[in-house]
Order: sequence, then C-alpha cells, then structure tokens
Amino acid sequence: MSGPRILAIETSCDETGVAVVVGGRQIEANQVATQIAIHAATGGIVPEVAARQQLRWIVQTTRAALGEAEVGWDDLDAVAVTYGPGLIGSLLVGVNAGQAIAAARGLPLIGVNHIEGHIYANWLTDARPGEPLPPEPPFPLLCLVVSGGHTQLVLMAGHGRYRLLGQTVDDAAGEAFDKVGRLLGLPYPGGPAVSAAAEGARPTLRFPRARTDGRFDFSFSGLKSAVLREIAGYRERGVAIPVDGLAAAFQEAVVDALVRKTVEAAEEHAVAAVAMGGGVAANTSLRTTLRTRLDAVGIPLLVPPPAWCTDNGAMIGAAAGFRFAAGERAEPGLQATPNLALSWLEA
Ligand code: KG4
Ligand code: ZN
Repeated sequence: MSGPRILAIETSCDETGVAVVVGGRQIEANQVATQIAIHAATGGIVPEVAARQQLRWIVQTTRAALGEAEVGWDDLDAVAVTYGPGLIGSLLVGVNAGQAIAAARGLPLIGVNHIEGHIYANWLTDARPGEPLPPEPPFPLLCLVVSGGHTQLVLMAGHGRYRLLGQTVDDAAGEAFDKVGRLLGLPYPGGPAVSAAAEGARPTLRFPRARTDGRFDFSFSGLKSAVLREIAGYRERGVAIPVDGLAAAFQEAVVDALVRKTVEAAEEHAVAAVAMGGGVAANTSLRTTLRTRLDAVGIPLLVPPPAWCTDNGAMIGAAAGFRFAAGERAEPGLQATPNLALSWLEA
C-alpha cells in the first residue's frame, strides 16, 4: 500500500456512502446505505426525508467502513467529503460529519465535487495489497458523466483540469429514465426498471432525436413528452400499453444521443480514452453500444463496475487522493454548496 489512507464521505443525495481509499486508488472499504426502498414508496426523492435518512445512517456507515477496512481513527491520514452539488440537507450531514471527524482527530479535510468523484471512479481498483495496480486512465480523457442530476461531456487534460464540452439543456439522462419509468408505471428508480423492461424487447417506434444548439449538448425533455403522448394514444384507443416496447424505444433514443455525441467529441479532440461515470453508466445497453462504436474507431473505453457508477464513498476517496497529493486542503469553514460547479480550467 502506498499513499495516504483517506476516509471518504458521500451524502449528496439519497445514498450514505463511506469508504476507506488508499493513494486515491485502492479500496479498503466501501459501505453504502441506500434509501431506495423509502423513496420507492413516494415514487421519488423527498429531500427532507433523504436528509433525515442521511443523519440516521452516517454514524453506522462510518463505523462499518472502518470495520471493513480493519483500521482505526489513528490509521487515517485525511478525511474527504462531498460538499456539492446535491441536496442541501443531505450535503450538510456529510460536511458536518467530515468536519467533526477532522477536528476531533486532527486530520486534514478535503472537499470534493460530486461530479469529479464520478469521473475518478475510473481510477479505483479492488486490487489486494501487494497486487500490481491496473494502469491509470490516460490523458487527454473524455468523460461522459451521466447521473440523475447531470449529463455532461467533460474533456480532462490532466488531474483537476477540466473543460466542459457540452451538457443537457433540460433533464439529466437519469432524470429522464426516472420520469419515463414513472409514466410507464414501473417502480422507482426508473433507470434500472426501464432498462430491465427494455431488455430483449423490440422498440415499438423510433422516437425523433432532439436537436441542440451546442454540438455536444443533450436534450431529453422532448423525449419524455413523446413517451407521454404515446401512452395517451394507447389509452384513448383503449389498447394495452406496450410497456417493454416503449421502454426499449426510449432507451434506444437516449443511448443513441449519448453515444453519437461522445464518439464525435472523442474523435474531434483525439482523446487517449473515453471514461464513463454516474448512475446511468451502469446501463448495459449504453455500456455495450458505446464500447462497440469506440472499438470501431480504435478508442479505448473505461467504465467502472456498476456499484462504483452509482453514488458511493470510494469515488470521493479517489478524487480526494489526487487533491491531497496536490496539497489541497478545505477551508476551515467548508460550506455545503448545492449548485457547486466543476472549476472549468482551460484544458
Ligand atoms: O449517480 P447517481 O447514483 O446519483 C446522482 O448523482 O444522481 O445516479 C442515479 C441515477 C438515477 O436516475 C437512476 O435511475 C440512474 O442513475 N440509473 C440508471 C441505471 N442505474 C441507475 N439508469 C439507466 N440504467 C441503469 N441501469
Ligand atoms: Zn451521483
């Protein structure tokens, strides 16, 4: 093992994630307490409920992470925490916990941007101590961040150096999956449910693809309305709604838009590789389609295992590892910042 051992906390939304990561790469523990069952009952996230659950689980999850890593407080070199973007009540729980631990144990605190965490999931490995580590992602790296809150194409020139090439002008990809899941009467969260319904199904139609002003921008709200119109049409005609076929048609349209623009951007910027992150990167159709298209143009694709795509503490520990090495430390009064942006340094 080499590098600092960081306790990393992620509470930006509805998962309580606490991990222990060494040198920004090696996972010693990665505990996630999920609230999916609770939000499934309301068909979506109620922010106050999410915050209360964060508070309920943060201590237990932290203890579980230290237990899994078989380390004590004295073995830690730093504490890292997501301070944005995300839900304010949820973020506050993690930021306060991180500050409290750092102050009580005299440890440095590192503030991490949640989006940067999703990107750095690509640096994680579960290699055991002593095992050789897989190579690091190469630069320039094109990152497709697709989550419930964000859909962005980010060109990364080096550690912490980002340029935003494009993003959604309305709904995030995961948000579209969630909304369409609800329209189709599928359980929350819509992403995995729509994806499961679509598997093996023939699309009932080809939805029109959205046009955007920015070449690498995305738009998914029109697609959601188109699904709604289809459903209304079946209802009017008194015909059973072909849930699986509509799910397949919707997923095909989303995947097509994401893949087409990602491949175009990757070729235009002559990147060394493409990396994915965020909950929607767990989608099988997106993973396989993007891999096939990038293979055809000879560009490698990096995708973390699904459990590291959805929110977790390990990805925050990975991003923190590189910030720590660069000497970065959080201001003493680190603030939870719901609309935090990545600092877009020119690549
Ligand atoms: O990254 P994440 O865990 O949280 C945010 O930062 O938003 O992403 C959650 C999103 C949800 O919208 C969920 O429906 C979507 O990721 N998601 C998926 C899949 N698994 C999770 N979307 C499509 N296919 C999946 N298999
Ligand atoms: Zn996320």
